[in-house]
Formats: sequence, structure tokens, C-alpha cells
Amino acid sequence: MPDPVLAVDQGTSGTKALVICPERGVIGTGFAGVRPRYLTGGLVEVDPEELYGSVVDAGRRALADADEPVGALGLANQGETVLAWDPDTGRPLTDALVWQDRRAEPLCAELDDHSDELRHLTGLPLDPYFAAPKMAWIRRHLTRAGHVTTSDTWLVHRLTGAHVTDAATASRTQLLDLDRAVWSQRALELYGLTGERLPHIVDNAAHVGTTRAFGPELPLTGLAVDQQAALLAQRVTEPGTAKCTYGTGAFLLAHTGGTPRRGASGLAACVAWRLGGHTDHCLDGQVYTAASAVRWLTDLGVITGAADLDPVGAAVPDTGGVTFVPALAGLAAPWWRGDLRGSLTGLGLDTTPGHLVRALCEGLAAQVAELADAAAADLGGPLTALRVDGGLTRSALLMQTQADLLQRPVEVSALPDATALGVGALARLGADPSLTLAQALPDTGPTTVYEPRITSDEAGERRAHFRTAVAALLAGGPA
Ligand code: G3P
Repeated sequence: MPDPVLAVDQGTSGTKALVICPERGVIGTGFAGVRPRYLTGGLVEVDPEELYGSVVDAGRRALADADEPVGALGLANQGETVLAWDPDTGRPLTDALVWQDRRAEPLCAELDDHSDELRHLTGLPLDPYFAAPKMAWIRRHLTRAGHVTTSDTWLVHRLTGAHVTDAATASRTQLLDLDRAVWSQRALELYGLTGERLPHIVDNAAHVGTTRAFGPELPLTGLAVDQQAALLAQRVTEPGTAKCTYGTGAFLLAHTGGTPRRGASGLAACVAWRLGGHTDHCLDGQVYTAASAVRWLTDLGVITGAADLDPVGAAVPDTGGVTFVPALAGLAAPWWRGDLRGSLTGLGLDTTPGHLVRALCEGLAAQVAELADAAAADLGGPLTALRVDGGLTRSALLMQTQADLLQRPVEVSALPDATALGVGALARLGADPSLTLAQALPDTGPTTVYEPRITSDEAGERRAHFRTAVAALLAGGPA
């Protein structure tokens, strides 16, 4: 009988670990929170030791919970979070600059003349969200010592001593030549990073080393960006299907097949996974603030947390004319205006918390619908359905609004932890290459399907309203 695997999802606001058994599903869970610092000027940092500590803590908790030996480890990472670190001691030399951090905006502005070239070369638009601008910023402003890499490379080095990154995470840097799947000398030159000792790029399922960080020695055999891991867990393995994960941000990824396909509609093109040397690709669109926007409403005292969305929203029948563009950390695909901030319009003396909650759900769902349309345009046909996961999928109000505005069924995974399940499947594949992808993939259980309940005319009207609010932001002020 194959051993269970330990799957660790190191995310923005915490690390989730699952012990997954091929026959019995999830048999152990562990969680350890991390506290990114949200500073003025769009700065978002986190202590790297806190990230590492949370990986070890969550992993050990899951193992204790399962109380069974595991055979392999998988590690998912945040994607575009970077730091400098000392290869001799393994100690961090800087804080980690989180993917949401906007401090590299001026550096991106300097490269503006090369944005088309970079986009063609790497598949990614020029934006501080990706890793390279933040890596270059660290080199220019903080330190020239040690290695500067994405957080996965540092975590893996601390765990195993290896100096690697996986193909999918490499494709989130804007330093990878997307067609040749090697580090691009030209991109490195443009970012002033030619002297860096970059990690070796490995398959997403591969034996990269062993660790004793969780107790008994464990091989690390699965690595992935969190979004791509969720894509795999949702079995989005054929062109035309897509998933959206509603976490700190909301991320819609559509599978595009075996050759890189640049988006003409403003989405990022990247590697979905590389297995046995064969690469699958995807298009990716982002809503930078999803659970972050819910946390913002919570911090303001409008609700007491995400569990309040449905009861508070149910107190009113609609948004009461309130429109919320929840771009609290800027607009990503397809607009790429990270410098903009959100807008909340149509407020009146009769506006209640219920209207604000509904306006937030409407804004999030409308933004995800724009991303789905962009993916459909690039794929040359509508998406058949949208598979969704992540904590906010527990809100029936948000999911129904999503189905309504999308005019497509929304299939909610019974298990919200798709990222951990995906990287667990990769770990299983890496530990036993005789398995097929289908055999390694988890059974995410029955889905709840939300069907659209409004007419396409009403959906069109509501989405037009949202687009008007976005257009006003793009034009320099709220509607
Ligand atoms: O691109 C950043 C994203 O992958 C982070 O995901 O789950 O940490 O919000 P999460």
C-alpha cells in the first residue's frame, strides 16, 4: 500500500499542511499563521523566518494529527514573493517582499520601453507583482550579498540544501524564456541581474533532496506555485477549462495546452507544470484582493469575518445602487494598473452593511467574470464551466453572484484546500514515477454546482455597471 504524503501549502497569510492518503483522503491537517506587514506606500513584507517556521510548524501538526508515517513531501509556494539570503548559513539577508508589494513600480516604469519585448520573451506583462522587479529592487536598494530568489528556493534550501526552483515558479519571475524554458539572458540583462546564481529549474514532480525538518527523513518530491497546484487538483488539464481560487487574492487560470500561448487579452502566460520534461501551459488572471478585501471590511467593523458575508448580505435584496471596485491593492489583468486604488460609489444615508457586502461580492464576481471572458477570448471559445476552490467559496452569496454574472455554472470543490491536494499529487508522482497523472490526482469529492439564476440581459447590465466604474478609475476618478 503506498504511503501517505505530507503536502504543505505556504501561502500569504499562513501555511496549511495536509497528510493525504491515496485510499482514505486527508488524514491529518495542520495550520500556522503568518503575519505580513501592510505598510504605507503599498509595501508588503514578511519575516522569512516566520515563513519557514510556519512550514515546519504546520507540517509537524499535520503529521501529529495523522499519526502515521508518510513517504514524501510536497511544497507549494506563493509564487512571486522574493528575498535575499546567505547560501552559506541559509540565513535571510532581507525581509521577504510579498507578491502584493508595489515598491518596484518606479523600476518597472524605467523598463517601460521594453515592456513588449519582456512580454513576448517571458509571457508576463511588466508589473511589480512578478518576482524580477522586486529582485532587482532588492539588489539596487537593500543588498548585493548572497542569493536573491523566490521564497520557494530559499525554503527548499533550508529544508534540503538544494538550489532549485520548479518550472512553474520560474515562469512567474519574468526571467524565464517561455519558449525555451531556460533563464533568459536578455531579461536578466534588462533587470541588471546577469551576475546572479539562479536556481536550477526542475520538474514539478522530482526528487530534489531530503529533509529532517519534520522528524524522520523525508524526500521532497513535489514543488509548485500555489495557483498551478490548485489547477492540477481541480483537474483542469485540458484546454478550455479553468479554475479560480478565492484566497488572499482570487486567481483564475485556464489551461492552454502543450505549447506556450501568449494572451492577447491581457492575461499572463506561464507554465502550468513540467512533468517528465513535458510542459503544460496556462493563462492567468488575478484579482489582487479577495479575502484581503473581506478582511478590510472586517477591520472596518462592517462584518465580523468571512462567515458573516451570507447572513449580512441576506438582509437586503441587492446592492442598493452601491458599486464597489475592490482594487484595494490595484488592478491586475486585464488592465495592469497596480497604481490605482479601489472605489466605492453610490453610497447614501440608507446604505447598510448588507449593501456593502453585496457590493463587495458583486465587485469580486464581476472582476473574475472579466478574467474568464479574457481567457475565453484567448482560447477562441467560451469556458465550459468554472471550477472554484479556496476559503471564500463557502459563501453561497459570492458563488451565486459569480454564476449569475458569468452566466456559466460554477462548480465548487468539496475540499477548499485544492493547492495542498495538488502539490500532494505532485509529491506522489515524484516519489513514484510509474504512476500516471490521473492516478496521482486526488479525488476532491462531490462538487456543489451554482447555476445562473438571472437572465443574460440582467447579467450584462450589472457587468456594464461594473465596467463603467472601472473605466472611471482608469480615467482618473470614481464615477
Ligand atoms: O500570486 C500570488 C498567489 O499565488 C498567492 O496565493 O493563496 O497566498 O493568496 P495565496
